[in-house]
Amino acid sequence: MATQFITETKRTHTCGQLTGADVGKDVVLFGWVHNFRDHGGAVFIDLRDREGLTQVVFEPDAKEAHDLAAMVRSEWCIGIRGKVLSRGKNVNPNMKTGEIEVRGSELTVFNKAETPPFELTDNTNTAEAKRLQYRYLDLRRAPLQKSLITRSKMNALTRAYLVEKGFLELETPFMGKYTPGGARNFLVPSRLNPGKFYALAESPQLYKQLFMVAGFERYFQIVKCFRDEDLRLDRQPEFTQIDVEMSFVKQDDVFEVIEGLIAKLWGDVLGVKVPTPFPRLDFDESMAKYGNDKPDLRFGLPHVVLTDVVRQHGAEGGVPMFVDAVAAKGIVKAMVVPAQYSLSRAESDKLEEYVKGMGAKGLARAKVGESGEWTQSPLSKTISLALRTAINTACEAKPGDLILFQFGRESMVQTVMANLRVHIAKKLKLIPEYGSGGVWNFLWVVNPPLFEYDEDAKTWAAAHHAFTRPHDSDVQYLETDPGKVKCWRYDVVLNGFEIGGGSIRLHDPAVQSRVFQALGIGEEDARNKFGFLLDALKFGAPPHGGIAIGMDRLAMLLTNAESLRDVIPFPKTQNGQDVMTAAPGEVDERQLKEVFVKTAV
Ligand code: AMO
Repeated sequence: MATQFITETKRTHTCGQLTGADVGKDVVLFGWVHNFRDHGGAVFIDLRDREGLTQVVFEPDAKEAHDLAAMVRSEWCIGIRGKVLSRGKNVNPNMKTGEIEVRGSELTVFNKAETPPFELTDNTNTAEAKRLQYRYLDLRRAPLQKSLITRSKMNALTRAYLVEKGFLELETPFMGKYTPGGARNFLVPSRLNPGKFYALAESPQLYKQLFMVAGFERYFQIVKCFRDEDLRLDRQPEFTQIDVEMSFVKQDDVFEVIEGLIAKLWGDVLGVKVPTPFPRLDFDESMAKYGNDKPDLRFGLPHVVLTDVVRQHGAEGGVPMFVDAVAAKGIVKAMVVPAQYSLSRAESDKLEEYVKGMGAKGLARAKVGESGEWTQSPLSKTISLALRTAINTACEAKPGDLILFQFGRESMVQTVMANLRVHIAKKLKLIPEYGSGGVWNFLWVVNPPLFEYDEDAKTWAAAHHAFTRPHDSDVQYLETDPGKVKCWRYDVVLNGFEIGGGSIRLHDPAVQSRVFQALGIGEEDARNKFGFLLDALKFGAPPHGGIAIGMDRLAMLLTNAESLRDVIPFPKTQNGQDVMTAAPGEVDERQLKEVFVKTAV
């Protein structure tokens, strides 16, 4: 009599486990029919679970099982019992279990499956929208299983590492008070408090500082954060941070903990030794050379700032466009594509199209000749010999090199040149389209300014948040020259992605109020926004600092995935939708009334 699977007959192995050493064993496997072949006589089934595939054969002599096996179809969920046989000469080197097959003697069907809407192969051409609609089937595919299993391992390693270092895993609320600044919040109407709203936490920032005030010293959390931002490949509206805060520390102490964590993750998951400490790059240098604060250092192609050179030569230089840009407080930057990559004219025209797509007016360029002369360039007609020579020298340009220029408003020039640098590197195959290419370039970007000038509002704004500690030596400039004040903020960067950021916090109420003043936040305003934190800082707050690592980005990069969506089980699309559950969805009038909300669409 057939045994009862699950109740009596327990699984003995996974589908990725059996090897030649198991030959002769009686085994029970559970899983899904990955594929099947009915050779008239024997029926072959590749049985799949999260650990791998095992080939199971049903010969006609095991009649009952064989007849049932002939009926099974893809993705049916079944259990089998059988004996492990050697495949002899037919070993399949591409399969973990390729040395063996299981000669099936019993089979039970736990559940049939409809024909899946797409084939569940490792490489798929199926449109992502379709796959997201049936995400639970998409998640059966080996690459996604592998990524999520890796992510689970990363979580476990992170917890073990931080706990071992004396960190406590403490929870913070998701529903909190709306505070302006930072990312746009999602709002949650309160039924019990008519007309009032909670904000979903964009991060546990204020709470983790309160943990320090409360004396917990070392806090961490692997925590969901919510931000109503425009989405990109590396941004999701809800994402996960490894959030950390520490008391009695300076910047180096935070770096040491994070470097150790990353080295552990890369070592234990990938077997890659990450050298520590990570190099550090000054924010100003990063902006000058790479146009942003998250440079990809797997390749060169640095920018050259020409603003001063242009200013020195003035009108004499013969390039009025440059002079006008500098006069309007803009900047001039160049980048050299070395002769060895010899871009054709058509290719450099394409680069111009690319930068126009980002809002640039064009892409001035010059090809450097044997004696430093410029060709293929409208600039060559009017530029003075002195300015041309100065630019060639500043760019260290050699014959055959192509110099690309961008000038105008600083933020535009930086963005365009930063993206152009990466775009060219991909075109020249200096880095792959996505993925590390086996090179892991971690670095810290340090010492950024505390404030950013908001050109539109004509005010200073906190570049990160208002609780970042300025360098002691710069506190004197808070009132007189706020742009000069550097602070203890840092970002950790990997291959062009900001994977984390944090700061040493401002725990001194006196300096805090001067920072608020520089930001144009009055005392009452500050109280309304952050009163509870300001109060807390008055009760013996310890010096403290911390950081948050973007876990999704870390997992995306570690697994060489193309997008965050590949490492998040149930992600949102570019429009912030979950196409499987059809969220966000409409709710009825009664529900809206209950929470005192009217819609205006
Ligand atoms: P920050 O805003 O820099 O810092 O966020 C920390 C890290 O979180 C990741 N991240 C995101 N990942 C996916 N989707 C998003 N929409 C998204 N936004 C941010 C990034 C980023 O580096 N409270 C501070 C940390 C601190 O000061 O300790 C904070 O949240 O990898």
